[in-house]
Amino acid sequence: MTVLFVNACLRGDESRTLTLCREYLEGIEDVKEVNLAELKLDPYYGGQVAFRAQLEAHDNYDDPLFDLAKDFAEADEIVIGAPYWDLSFPAALKIYVEHICAMGITFHYTDQGICEGMCQARHLTYITTCGGKVAGINFGYEYMCGLANMLGIPEVRFAVAEDLDVVGADIEANLNEARNTIAELRETR
Ligand SMILES: Cc1cc2nc3c(=O)[nH]c(=O)nc-3n(C[C@H](O)[C@H](O)[C@H](O)COP(=O)(O)O)c2cc1C
Repeated sequence: MTVLFVNACLRGDESRTLTLCREYLEGIEDVKEVNLAELKLDPYYGGQVAFRAQLEAHDNYDDPLFDLAKDFAEADEIVIGAPYWDLSFPAALKIYVEHICAMGITFHYTDQGICEGMCQARHLTYITTCGGKVAGINFGYEYMCGLANMLGIPEVRFAVAEDLDVVGADIEANLNEARNTIAELRETR
């Protein structure tokens, strides 16, 4: 079984989100990590979109620009770790999404014109932390639900630690709440 870990915890070892992700992944063999802080992907602009589209139109998927999408499509399980930034997640993660949304690899259109996901993963686990209380609507998580739906991943699982930057908050207790969820998620992999 391959687990693809998309690490969007851009503060590296300082990141509380990354600590939670490592706890979820502990002891799991066959984890492939995509470290977005190291990759520093470029966003797609018109020229690259046109170049990729003509490759897709010819079913020509040999170009390395498709490698991230292939890994995403083939993984048995996806884990994404990202802090809550500006109501969702770091832009680096959105740019990664641009790279993996490759038609013919992670999704395609049926003859009836319906978008159909092509990914193998049985679930996507989204782990995040927030400075404040996001009060039930976490747009990072909501976005991932939409993405998973588009790419054919049937389940999205979620662990969050909130109130990590609030003065006087019991940060360790807030992290422990997420740890409890993570322990349950590990049991139901
Ligand atoms: C650029 C930036 C934007 C942020 N935006 C939000 C936000 O919209 N809502 C919120 O509750 N916290 C926000 N925060 C606080 C982070 O979510 C919080 O510190 C989080 O725990 C950081 O995760 P990390 O320790 O893994 O880096 C932001 C922090 C940064 C650096």
